[in-house]
Amino acid sequence: MKLLVALFVFSAALCAADSPAPVTFYRDVAGILQQRCQGCHRAGEVAPMAFDTYTETRPWAKAIKQAVLSRKMPPWYAEGPAGKFHNDPSLSQPEIDKLVAWADTGAAAGNPLDAPPARHFAQGWSIQQPDQVFELPQPYEVPASGTIEYTYVIVPTGFTEDRWVTQAEVRPGNPAVVHHANVYIREPGSGWLREYPAGKMFIPDERKDRAATGGSSSAGASVREQVIVGFVPGRPPKQVPPGYAMLIPAGSDLVFQVHYTTNGKAAADRTRVGFVYAKTPPAKRVIRIQASNARFAIPPGAADYPVSGSAQLQIPCELLDAYPHMHLRGKSMALTAVYPTGEKDELVRVPHYDFNWQLIYEMKQPKILPKGTILRADATFDNSPNNRFNPDSKAEVRWGDQSWEEMMVGFFDLAIPAKADPAAVLAPQ
Ligand code: HEC
Repeated sequence: MKLLVALFVFSAALCAADSPAPVTFYRDVAGILQQRCQGCHRAGEVAPMAFDTYTETRPWAKAIKQAVLSRKMPPWYAEGPAGKFHNDPSLSQPEIDKLVAWADTGAAAGNPLDAPPARHFAQGWSIQQPDQVFELPQPYEVPASGTIEYTYVIVPTGFTEDRWVTQAEVRPGNPAVVHHANVYIREPGSGWLREYPAGKMFIPDERKDRAATGGSSSAGASVREQVIVGFVPGRPPKQVPPGYAMLIPAGSDLVFQVHYTTNGKAAADRTRVGFVYAKTPPAKRVIRIQASNARFAIPPGAADYPVSGSAQLQIPCELLDAYPHMHLRGKSMALTAVYPTGEKDELVRVPHYDFNWQLIYEMKQPKILPKGTILRADATFDNSPNNRFNPDSKAEVRWGDQSWEEMMVGFFDLAIPAKADPAAVLAPQ
């Protein structure tokens, strides 16, 4: 009898070796979803469905297979070898194989005891508990329908001394109606939007403000008005490496810029921003500059219309990250550093730009850019009817804030010595 049992166990083991163990949700899939998908696919986050449990995930097995095979998910648009970017979320081939095998073999649950412990997500904030939170002074009432121009409100910080920020996060009050939101620092010396009182939501007179900033948009083109952090779906909050920080000078105001979209239901929103402050003064200050071009006219129907812009560094800097910004006709963008030797370094290339995914591409390590380096942005636009996002292929398209207008901006987050003047980074235009 003992022998029989032993034989049985032995042959069972052989069988198991012959046919691979079936792929199950709890043992093989749940861990991948936790690490790679639940950042967005969990209750209350930006993705339309949660992958927290087997029951929630099972109906999506085939769609998951499609999405990972086509590399539509997780969203990532920069080309380049694996490991080029710090925040590249792309799945490894074995991870893709597992998700595909799971879908192909009936999407079994397996044994719940095989599941990894649930991943812990911070409630509300994904940065550390903020030292300070600023919010819209009152809820903004979003109507059920119509187009709402970018809406602003000025919130004084009341800071009597400089503040260094190491982590910042914008939380939309109502993600269903907040398409994106930016928080700017308006330094005391800035004249930007001074005609509007603090504490009240307003829609600026674009034409007037544009004239005042010499052709660029109201989007704070000068170093006295810097975006400190923004919210767009899928973009992680801002966290800088140890020893680096962003400065909010004493006496600055915050300017919230919120892009509301209507969705058939009236809603109220009260967007907030949270800051974590540096415990000690940093060695390096992080600023954002742009290589842009606001003087273009994309002809109707043009399928591959090039627009370029550049900016030259007047002091040595470190590059932390970079990203392209265009609207619905944006087709591709390459961001390149041209060193004083003439040597070119492709920083980020997005061959198939998608307006819905304004991701930031973080360098593996801060990249040294010598004085004299030219940062280039080379874009193409598709204003043809073949671009399925094109709101109107018969229009000639120029620079503007709204998504049916266009922008052409390469953004670069640079670190400079903490005491350096950011106004000295770029030559006056
Ligand atoms: C940065 C946020 C984010 C991450 C990370 C993410 N998703 Fe998504 N996902 C979304 C959003 C938003 C949508 C809906 C809009 C869309 O389809 O682009 C979506 C849609 C999907 C869809 C539906 C696709 C379709 O064609 O209808 C599937 C399936 C999916 N995701 C699977 C995954 C899987 C699997 C992972 C992890 C390997 C993942 N996603 C990671 C945000 C994310």
